[in-house]
Amino acid sequence: MGQVREPAVARVERTTRSAAETRRLGERLGRLLGDGDVVALVGELGAGKTQLARGICRGAGVADGDVSSPTFAIVATYRGRVQVNHADLYRIGDEDELHATGFHDLVGRAGATVVEWADRLPGALPPERLEIRLAHDPAISTRRRLDIDGHGERHARLARSLAARRRG
Ligand SMILES: Nc1ncnc2c1ncn2[C@@H]1O[C@H](COP(=O)(O)OP(=O)(O)OP(=O)(O)O)[C@@H](O)[C@H]1O
Ligand SMILES: [Mg+2]
Repeated sequence: MGQVREPAVARVERTTRSAAETRRLGERLGRLLGDGDVVALVGELGAGKTQLARGICRGAGVADGDVSSPTFAIVATYRGRVQVNHADLYRIGDEDELHATGFHDLVGRAGATVVEWADRLPGALPPERLEIRLAHDPAISTRRRLDIDGHGERHARLARSLAARRRG
């Protein structure tokens, strides 16, 4: 059909100037998520991973009150327009411990999966994913830089859809 294949990787850089702006960016992403999508969030303490995850959940149609911090449960599942599996690997010991939570039965299958501290167990996530690295701005306390990498056609498209809208 002469269709042009879109590149299977994409990188987008964004800056946010408040927690609300980070949540709004998450909301934009959440509206686009579907079953099997995987979002890996990476960044130091207080970088904004949970703020972004909250926005993602809202965009996916999850009621605000349902979203908690899954740190102790490791993975929480919320019902929305699309199911959202929200995991936090900060306190995870090893791959066996993660296995016991049922995490692997969810990722890439039922619902969309959002993982905070995704770098704690590098092998736990499929290579086809949207990876978002959040970093503090050393000069401005409420500014964050987000490096967004989409791997695989579907996640690359998600990354591109998060690019700043052009003016004019
Ligand atoms: N631009 C911004 N984006 C996101 N959060 C911001 C921003 N500016 C300030 N903040 C504040 O930074 C904090 C981010 O906290 P959050 O819980 O989202 O971080 P986290 O990466 O999940 O940390 P942890 O690993 O400890 O769970 C919040 O208190 C939030 O209000
Ligand atoms: Mg967090």
